Amino acid sequence: MAKQVRKAVFPVGGLGTRFLPATKAMPKEMLPVVDKPLVQYAVEEALDAGIEEIIFVTGRGKAAIEDFFDHSVELRQVLGERGKDAELHAIDVPVLEPGRVAYTRQQDALGLGHAVWCARELVGDEPFAVLLADDLVMAETPCLKQMLDVYTKTSGNVVAVVDVPKEHTERYGILEIASDDGRLAEVTGMVEKPDPDDAPSTLSIIGRYILLPRVFDYLSDRKTGAGGEIQLTDSMARMIGEAPFHGLRFEGIRFDCGDKSGFFEANVAFALARAELHDQVQEVINRYANGSDR
Ligand code: UTP
Repeated sequence: MAKQVRKAVFPVGGLGTRFLPATKAMPKEMLPVVDKPLVQYAVEEALDAGIEEIIFVTGRGKAAIEDFFDHSVELRQVLGERGKDAELHAIDVPVLEPGRVAYTRQQDALGLGHAVWCARELVGDEPFAVLLADDLVMAETPCLKQMLDVYTKTSGNVVAVVDVPKEHTERYGILEIASDDGRLAEVTGMVEKPDPDDAPSTLSIIGRYILLPRVFDYLSDRKTGAGGEIQLTDSMARMIGEAPFHGLRFEGIRFDCGDKSGFFEANVAFALARAELHDQVQEVINRYANGSDR
């Protein structure tokens, strides 16, 4: 039987250079989509999928994330005194039981692979999930839950994938696949940010992974790859052939919120999905679409 996936790693140590100056003094993961920070969506997804322990890999300037997932004693008191019930409800973010959330630091942003490696002692010898908060997924069944269902059957590594336009392969980790039933694909290789002409497919890995602890052995080599960074993709590739490895075309929509236009699109989509905002936002969109700028 597959060993249960209990822990999720949230690498939040990146510099977020594409969002400067906003990220000069605030973590990228705290950027709000409508009114909720990116990292809250990702943590809620993990908890909805049954994850029991959360490990953040943070860095300098990321303290706001720790404060966010803690009680807001003063705010709660003031809102209570003023009878602001809706606002009190809004600050009800998931506060994990002490001991079920851990923060470790990546002192130098050497790449995603290095960030995951920083969690090795906290994860230990068990399968674990990795979620990148800047990949936001809108789905009826949480994306990670869909992946865990696959893991339960395969006991192997699982990555969530989406098809991207060929000219975008150089932005993402891309899979080489063998059998493919249109939903689940067997992975035979993967390459980080390939040139469109060299890309083995257009199946791009998004920021959702279920990995076997073996990956830490490969990450320990600390070899740099594309962009001079320690890439998670390179170490994942070394596990192919050792254990089952699948790419899942999950049901849902992914928004690449590490990119400005993806972030903007996520705000539009999530606002339209909110009953109390839908009509107002639709009216604004129509106005701009009709060529009016006011
Ligand atoms: P990105 O490639 O989006 O990098 O990282 P970034 O630094 O966050 O942003 P840009 O490209 O400079 O704008 C993907 C994920 O990996 C994490 C990031 O926090 C993000 O969730 N990451 C990346 C780390 O935790 N550490 C790193 O050294 C690099």
